[in-house]
Amino acid sequence: MTVIKKICCIGAGYVGGPSCTVLAAKCPDVIITVVDISQPRIDAWNSDKLPIYEPGLDEMVKQQRGKNLFFSTDVDGTIRDADLIFVCVNTPTKMYGIGQGRAADLTYLEAAARRIAGISTAPKIVVEKSTVPVHAADSIARILHANAKEGVTFQILSNPEFLAEGTAINDLVNADRVLIGGQQSPAGHEAIEALASLYARWIPRERILTMNTWSSELSKLTANAFLAQRVSSINAISAVCEATGADVEEVARAIGTDTRIGSKFLKASIGFGGSCFQKDILNLVYLCESLNLPEVGEYWQQVVKMNDWQRERFTRKVIAQLFNTVQNKKIAILGFAFKKDTGDTRESAAIYISKYFLEESAQVAIYDPKVSEDQVVRDLSEPGLLSNVDKIKKGVTMYSSAYDAVKDAHAIIVCTEWDEFKTLDYQRIYEGMQKPAFIFDGRLILDHQKLRSIGFQVEVIGKRVPPKY
Ligand code: NAD
Ligand code: UDX
Repeated sequence: MTVIKKICCIGAGYVGGPSCTVLAAKCPDVIITVVDISQPRIDAWNSDKLPIYEPGLDEMVKQQRGKNLFFSTDVDGTIRDADLIFVCVNTPTKMYGIGQGRAADLTYLEAAARRIAGISTAPKIVVEKSTVPVHAADSIARILHANAKEGVTFQILSNPEFLAEGTAINDLVNADRVLIGGQQSPAGHEAIEALASLYARWIPRERILTMNTWSSELSKLTANAFLAQRVSSINAISAVCEATGADVEEVARAIGTDTRIGSKFLKASIGFGGSCFQKDILNLVYLCESLNLPEVGEYWQQVVKMNDWQRERFTRKVIAQLFNTVQNKKIAILGFAFKKDTGDTRESAAIYISKYFLEESAQVAIYDPKVSEDQVVRDLSEPGLLSNVDKIKKGVTMYSSAYDAVKDAHAIIVCTEWDEFKTLDYQRIYEGMQKPAFIFDGRLILDHQKLRSIGFQVEVIGKRVPPKY
């Protein structure tokens, strides 16, 4: 039986950091070192200000760091000493060449595999935790075996991660399931068992699902595609609600009580964001096209198309309400992260919406409790709808309080569902705004009747709130 004593995790990001912290807390006898090529990221993991915000993470890192949890840039040394290596590197959408805008960019994964092969002097279990296209484990295996030193063998496992940002610690501690895919051979089963026995320290055995590698890889893409599809489905219905006078929250409640449908992931919004949903669906679409299954690809592509449309539809609605012009008007964006309880802005709907307003020459005022000004400027200057840093700096102001952001604004747009936005003093806010004062709740978190009685013009995703003249 293979016993794991030392673990190396390549990639100290949103997945590598939290998942290894929980693993370290649950397996105090195992030494876990998280490595990264980014010195600033590792420095931050070793400091009091961690590189990511995740509720409960600070305390857990402080508890384990220096005991059996380490963060280092010594990639080679850590690989050499490890029995098991998690590969948690980024696998973004490819932005060049064949498959541009859809396929996964496996550059970082391949670099990690080559490094493992070049360094390893003893057998290792290599665990693919990054989200990858089906059969990526094949590529990793070929690179490892082609470059292995004599006598060194590798077992490759697929162990996709299902944590969601903002709830990562709870998702890791109380995982619905852990998936482990591996080669269906005696050596493969031994490697699967070695990893399963680590998770079994805190996850009930019946929730540790083992399967063949390809099923495991495909299950991860499928899970994200299904979750994103639910958001796009309810968002599609939100448009029907606005047109008919139905209320999307009532519809969601009505269908969600059907146990076959379930109530989760039926919250209408300005569109899903985050580093995973769009990327993984596009990855799935590209896979289907490569497999000559264009109808399947088109089916899933529609989920992304609906998401794009929802963001654009919402922005058009705001501009139409603001008398068809936002030029030089102060538009306050409350929340820039892609969801609450994270500082992550990757693919955040707020980025797209802010870009639309900048293109219309609005003055965009942004407040988010966890997103820095630098991050906002980086996000808004990325190639896409707008790539002019000067225009961004002229058109965007970052505020350190919601009250300052909304002062003198023509409209407030709630882009992220931060809890603190629910308890703001809206009477005070109303008094300091231009009139008519508009508020657009893109997250369905505010008390719309109360806002209306204060005097706001209220517009909401998926329902009509009658105006007050
Ligand atoms: P991330 O960008 O936050 O972190 C990846 C890290 O890997 C970076 O710090 C980068 O410097 C490092 N890295 C890249 N190549 C390296 C190399 N060769 N050697 C050492 N370090 C290297 O990414 P993330 O959000 O943690 O995602 C990682 C993977 O997990 C992706 O495949 C993603 O799809 C998947 N995933 C992400 C989430 C999520 O919520 N973020 C959830 C589930 C799965
Ligand atoms: C997702 C998956 O949930 C997770 O299992 C996977 O490992 C990584 O991708 P994440 O992107 O961190 O996690 O957050 P999630 O809670 O899934 O939200 C994604 C986006 O959908 C957010 O922008 C969120 O606001 C939006 N969303 C979610 C809705 O608009 N409505 C909902 O009902 C649920």
